[in-house]
Amino acid sequence: MNIIMLGAPGAGKGTIASQMKEKYNLPHISSGDIFRANIKENTELGKLAKSYIDKGTLVPDDVTINMMVDRLCKDDCKNGFILDGFPRTIVQADGLNEALNKSNTKIDLAILVEGDDDQIAERLSGRRVCEKCGATYHIVSMPPKVDGVCDKCGATLIHRKDDTADVIKDRLKTYHEQTKPLIDYYNEKGILKTISGFIKSKEEMIDAIDKIISFGN
Ligand code: AP5
Repeated sequence: MNIIMLGAPGAGKGTIASQMKEKYNLPHISSGDIFRANIKENTELGKLAKSYIDKGTLVPDDVTINMMVDRLCKDDCKNGFILDGFPRTIVQADGLNEALNKSNTKIDLAILVEGDDDQIAERLSGRRVCEKCGATYHIVSMPPKVDGVCDKCGATLIHRKDDTADVIKDRLKTYHEQTKPLIDYYNEKGILKTISGFIKSKEEMIDAIDKIISFGN
C-alpha cells in the first residue's frame, strides 16, 4: 500500500508513521530526514536545503520532487511505502502522481494528522530527536528513560534548530498557505482519512491506524 502522511509541522506525522512502519513493514520515508542527512554530510543538496529549512520555508519543488522520486525507485518501495512530509504543495503532488503513473501505481491513502497550532508550537519546543537513529521524544509527553539519551540506540538527543519559536511560527504559516490545499486535493480523490495527532496511548494509536489501513485495503 502507498500511503502519504499530511499535517502541520509537529502534528505527529513522524510518530504515527514509525508505528505504521513497524506494524505493516513498510519503509518510512521522510523528506525532512533526507534533507537533514544531506545537511549533515554537507552535500550540495544539503547546503541548498539548509538555507530554506533554517527559515521555515519550503525547499524548491523541482529539487524536492527529483530527490523523492529517486528514493521511491529503490527496491524497498516495491511493496509500498509511507511518505512523511512529501508532497507538501500541489505541484509536488502532481509531480508524484506523474512519476507513479509511469510505473502503473498510485497513492492509495492520504492520512491527515490533526492538531491545532497552539498545541503544536508547545510540542515542537519540547521535541528531542536522536542524532543517530532519528527516534523522536518529547521532554514531557514522551520522555526517554534516561534524560538526553535515546532509548533505542543510546546516542545523544538533540533539539532541532528549526524547533525554535520564530521558525515554528514560519513553518506553520508555510503549512497553512502551501500544504493545506492538499487536504481538498486528496479528499476529492476519495482517499483522505484523518487521525488525531494527540492520541495518548500507543495502543489507542495502533487501533486508530488499523481502522484507517483497513479502509485503504
Ligand atoms: P520535516 O522534517 O518534514 O518537518 P515537519 O513537517 O515540520 O514535521 P515534523 O517532523 O516537525 O513533525 P511531525 O508531524 O513528524 O511530528 P512528530 O511526530 O515529530 O521538514 C523540515 C523542513 O524540511 C521543512 O520546514 C522544509 O523546509 C523542508 N522540507 C521537508 N519536506 C519538504 C517538502 N516536501 N518540500 C519542501 N521542503 C520540505 O511529533 C512532534 C512532537 O510531538 C514530538 O516531540 C513527539 O514526541 C510528540 N508527539 C507526537 N505524537 C504524540 C502523542 N500522540 N502523544 C504525545 N506526544 C506526541
